[in-house]
Amino acid sequence: MAQVTEQSVLEALRKIVDPDLHKDIVALGFVKDLQIDGGAVSFRIVLTTPACPVKEQMQTQAQELVGALPGVSSVNVKMDAEVPKGRGITEKVVVPGVRNIVAVSSGKGGVGKSTVAVNMAVALARDGARVGLMDADLYGPNAPLMLGAADAQPIVSGNKLVPNEAHGVKLISIGILKPGDEPMIFRGPILHSLVRQFLGDVLWGELDYLIVDMPPGTGDVQLSLAQLVPVQGAVLVTTPQEVALADVRRALRMFETVHVPILGIVENMSYFVAPDTGRRYNIFGEGGGQKLADEYHVPFLGAIPIGLEVREGGDRGVPVVVGQPDSPQAEALRHVAEEVARQVSIEAMKPELVVLGKAR
Ligand SMILES: Nc1ncnc2c1ncn2[C@@H]1O[C@H](COP(=O)(O)OP(=O)(O)O)[C@@H](O)[C@H]1O
Ligand SMILES: [Mg+2]
Repeated sequence: MAQVTEQSVLEALRKIVDPDLHKDIVALGFVKDLQIDGGAVSFRIVLTTPACPVKEQMQTQAQELVGALPGVSSVNVKMDAEVPKGRGITEKVVVPGVRNIVAVSSGKGGVGKSTVAVNMAVALARDGARVGLMDADLYGPNAPLMLGAADAQPIVSGNKLVPNEAHGVKLISIGILKPGDEPMIFRGPILHSLVRQFLGDVLWGELDYLIVDMPPGTGDVQLSLAQLVPVQGAVLVTTPQEVALADVRRALRMFETVHVPILGIVENMSYFVAPDTGRRYNIFGEGGGQKLADEYHVPFLGAIPIGLEVREGGDRGVPVVVGQPDSPQAEALRHVAEEVARQVSIEAMKPELVVLGKAR
């Protein structure tokens, strides 16, 4: 009977190419713990995010490729993920255990920034990632409400804050520093130290993704954040009515100025799916977000339909990806979360791709 060797298994697995990193999974070092016991082969494939959209597909492919080798009687493929640390994360130690920081931003308020941030965080957590959400929107800190944790106070441990947890996501809101309904207006230097304290004084523990719900616009907080922490990238949320506006372009340019990569653009409240007929209505026309993304050469991360269940979920503190996971809105939000995880992986793997001589 044919002898199964490590080499023949790896050779077979080289046929699996990561669609984003454009390298085979052996060259990328994704294949771990390869064990061969007679005809029984087992190994792990360690991806860069648990939210990988092609996870199942890769597993099947690996199973089939190795299974087809002469002498192989059984194949055991375990899919795993280790989220790589984003570039620059090691140098700035404000948040030591956090691997990637993603800012969710928008040109103006009311476009669904918090909705996207909250649902994205919960979706990633449900995929098995360790996720934190920092509500940094001083002007409208409503992410805790959307997670059903509006009244939760973080626990103080020593001189640090322990975040609350809701729907599997660690949560801290800048709103807790000043409870009440009055709008918070701070001047630049105060904001700067507030943001720094916030990031540094929270016991986040180990996180794969820290999602930051940013205040809308292009003011001091955005700049402070970009200066203080190595934000891996920014997700820009727009609505179809807004895509043509100067605010969005200004936001894009601001991140460019502070060297924060734009992970992509999300178009929220894009279209309406009639719940009774399932018919799709493009109330505001079609393709604005995509066009904007094309124009700025950044990824388009997805379009989220408008729907009552999104607002109701937000008001009830049960994000739509939890409360109504089968709705078109939840599906679209999960897709956005996967796309963001994917872009973060691409950004994080860039230096290695350069080393491999394959910069994108
Ligand atoms: N796709 C959607 N469909 C229906 N309502 C939405 C949708 N996205 C957001 N909303 C609602 O619109 C309002 C503003 O959204 P929010 O996420 O708070 O915006 P922002 O954080 O940008 O100010 C909220 O009441 C929210 O529930
Ligand atoms: Mg908000």
